[in-house]
Amino acid sequence: MIRPPEYVLAIRPYVPGKPLEELERDLGIGNSVKLASNENPVGPSPAAVDAVGKALSGINRYPDGSGYYLKKVLSKRLSVSEDEVILGNGSNELIDIAARTFMTYGDEAVMATPSFVVYSMAVQSVGGVCVQVPLKDYMHDLDAMAAAVTPRTRMLFIANPNNPTGTINRKDEFDRMMAKMPDNLIVVVDEAYFEYVSDPGYADSMKHLHSDRNVLILRTFSKMYGLAGLRLGYGVAKREILADMNRLREPFNTNSIAQKAGIAALGDDEHLRRSREVNESGKEYLYRRLGEMGMSYVPTEANFIYMPVAGAPALYEKLLRLGVIVRPMGPDSLRVTIGLPEENRRFIEALARTAGDGR
Ligand SMILES: Cc1ncc(COP(=O)(O)O)c(C=O)c1O
Repeated sequence: MIRPPEYVLAIRPYVPGKPLEELERDLGIGNSVKLASNENPVGPSPAAVDAVGKALSGINRYPDGSGYYLKKVLSKRLSVSEDEVILGNGSNELIDIAARTFMTYGDEAVMATPSFVVYSMAVQSVGGVCVQVPLKDYMHDLDAMAAAVTPRTRMLFIANPNNPTGTINRKDEFDRMMAKMPDNLIVVVDEAYFEYVSDPGYADSMKHLHSDRNVLILRTFSKMYGLAGLRLGYGVAKREILADMNRLREPFNTNSIAQKAGIAALGDDEHLRRSREVNESGKEYLYRRLGEMGMSYVPTEANFIYMPVAGAPALYEKLLRLGVIVRPMGPDSLRVTIGLPEENRRFIEALARTAGDGR
């Protein structure tokens, strides 16, 4: 029987959550709220939905493989040239393409733990070695990550804000780390939650774009833009880096509907404003109520909150039975997405009920 190489066998497959309807049927519940995947609870931009409708009649054609119009809009917004932008089937795909482009068997990649699980999967898929550096105070420890770089390191991943902790890295520490990077290594700065950040000290990754270091900045339409189901993300890097990644990019990796929806979403400032406002007020409500309940949480710069709590898997199960789906993150923490006011209230009420029954 044919089997994959050892390094592929070592990968633990990503276990997707059950569809909501299936879960509700299994548990005999209804009207559950899903606060597990950091999606935008406001929904997609109405302008994007409209663009999707209009694009449907053209799906007999292949998409524009270069993503010409979307890249044009993005490059103008970001003040970069069009060949400094790459589109992906979600930013997830770009993580994968980057690992396949720049790493080979036995190369090392430095990443934080806990952080976004896809980095290690991408690195392992090419037989690379993951060097995991623990967070410090729930934040990426950039000095320790820089110190973990060896002559075999080809990639260094930073999620800023980090998933699952929602913390950011700031300008000074980021610039200090960049100054230590060799030129045969690429720093992937994953800014999937960039649009939610309000802290003025947030690191400016773009300023390193044209330096003699290598950065690949990743962003997505899956979070604040509310288009997770369409799979659309983008990367920004020097043209030489993207030219190499384009060798491995599938010719039609982003679909025509997503490209049109992305352009429309970028022009819908009102949707972004509302999404940000719902997130900020939800955050304030959750901070206040969690504080009153004596629950600990890590202040967030994203659209989710990390809660250190003993017995997290059991608590997750209890919340599930009360119709509230969050994400357990190991034995002693939960991550909850900030939802609509009613969803946040349901979460707090369920949490209060579980506290009453000897968790
Ligand atoms: C840190 C981080 N990066 C990337 C992604 C993937 O986003 P996309 O939907 O664009 O593939 C996520 C999704 O949860 C994320 O949390």
